[in-house]
Amino acid sequence: MSSRENPQPVTRNSPIRIYLIGFMGSGKSYLGKQLAEQLQWKFIDLDAYLESKESKTISQIFEEGGEALFRQLEKDYLTATGDFEKTVIATGGGCPCFYDNMEWMDVIGQTIYLKTPVSILVKRLQSETEHRPLLAGKSNKELSDFIEQKLKERKAYYEQAQVIFEYRSGTEGVKELADLLR
Ligand code: S3P
Repeated sequence: MSSRENPQPVTRNSPIRIYLIGFMGSGKSYLGKQLAEQLQWKFIDLDAYLESKESKTISQIFEEGGEALFRQLEKDYLTATGDFEKTVIATGGGCPCFYDNMEWMDVIGQTIYLKTPVSILVKRLQSETEHRPLLAGKSNKELSDFIEQKLKERKAYYEQAQVIFEYRSGTEGVKELADLLR
């Protein structure tokens, strides 16, 4: 785990909401639930929240209004999380990279980037392309190229997180992370 320039606020002022950011398949929802349990906080997955509020799947939203509509809704529901307290929020992989979402999350909450090795992302996402419109229909080679390329584009946003958490899988490091945030 590494913290950016000034890790002190994490321990001086306990956050009231935590945003997990990172690429698709990095384990934000899994780790988010574990973290929320450790902290005895609530957990929400921003995509699931958006889907339940809109009564549509992400794929349906992409079909109806393309990525532009999805990004607008994503921003609207992200803004709604500013009222949530003692909540761990797992955001979608592209969320920090649109509008001023990343800066906003950095101001209103504690941001944690789950940095997961590309090899793990590729392996995990090979079996999970269908409900992710950006990945649908890609061969393994196309998927791997897409991940490499997108990560390059998104790195600058992800690395604005206050904490960078090197994460592979399971519950490794979760207790340590929760202790840092308490
Ligand atoms: C996206 C990631 C997805 C979802 C949408 C777009 C992205 O969330 O928001 O399909 O742009 O990386 P997960 O990271 O939870 O898969």
